[in-house]
Amino acid sequence: MLILHADCIGKEYRKEGHKDLVFSSFSVDVHMGETVGLVGPSGCGKSTCARVLAGLEKPSRGRVLYRGKDIHTLTRAEWSQFRREVQVIFQDPVGSFNPTQTIGQSMTAVLKHVHVPGDEHENELAHVFHHVGLQMEILSRYPDQISGGQAQRAAIARGMIMQPRVMILDEPTSALDVSVQAQILHLLTYVQKEHKIAYVFISHDIDVVEYMSHTIVKMQEISCKMKK
Ligand SMILES: Nc1ncnc2c1ncn2[C@@H]1O[C@H](COP(=O)(O)OP(=O)(O)OP(=O)(O)O)[C@@H](O)[C@H]1O
Ligand SMILES: [Mg+2]
Repeated sequence: MLILHADCIGKEYRKEGHKDLVFSSFSVDVHMGETVGLVGPSGCGKSTCARVLAGLEKPSRGRVLYRGKDIHTLTRAEWSQFRREVQVIFQDPVGSFNPTQTIGQSMTAVLKHVHVPGDEHENELAHVFHHVGLQMEILSRYPDQISGGQAQRAAIARGMIMQPRVMILDEPTSALDVSVQAQILHLLTYVQKEHKIAYVFISHDIDVVEYMSHTIVKMQEISCKMKK
């Protein structure tokens, strides 16, 4: 079943009187419980596309449909459901945590956001941390006090707390050494089977994408600059 659909989306940024085209006419279908791999060379717009698919930026043209509805015409209630159900794991996992909060404080903020009662927080965190293979000790640490692999797991754990239907994973293993990479890929496969989550798996590593994905979409580099 189709859950997220990008319909000929394009994105450009206006800079100093001209438009920088990042990508144009890009379409992708994301089906429940399946993985779409998104590949392309560095700078072709993969992370920008991730933000557009997640509704964090508007496309310059085209539409993003979630469960058949244009995400930029959703009601307030539908929008907050969309923001909960579609999670992004950003390319820089350490930077995606607030540096002034411990990992525990960041997790608690998300649990509160999804209305988990305070007395259930510890159980819920223990459950999710067990899933991603993290020790509870790291809850008292700040983002710069954990390793890249731990930060990546913590980012996935934080995304899972939201019980998403779609996870957009932007280069989830690129910053990790090969053994940790394998663990994270294994974890993602397991989580997908357990929870029937759809993934948009972004990477420049075609071997990893082929291993993970049901379908693969390629983004091409656009070098042209459009005059105003
Ligand atoms: N907010 C912005 N304003 C202007 N230009 C931007 C903005 N965000 C991204 N770009 C430009 O869009 C292009 C694509 O960037 P993006 O980060 O999406 O590429 P990417 O495919 O994710 O690259 P990488 O593989 O290195 O992560 C780049 O040329 C970048 O400079
Ligand atoms: Mg990127």
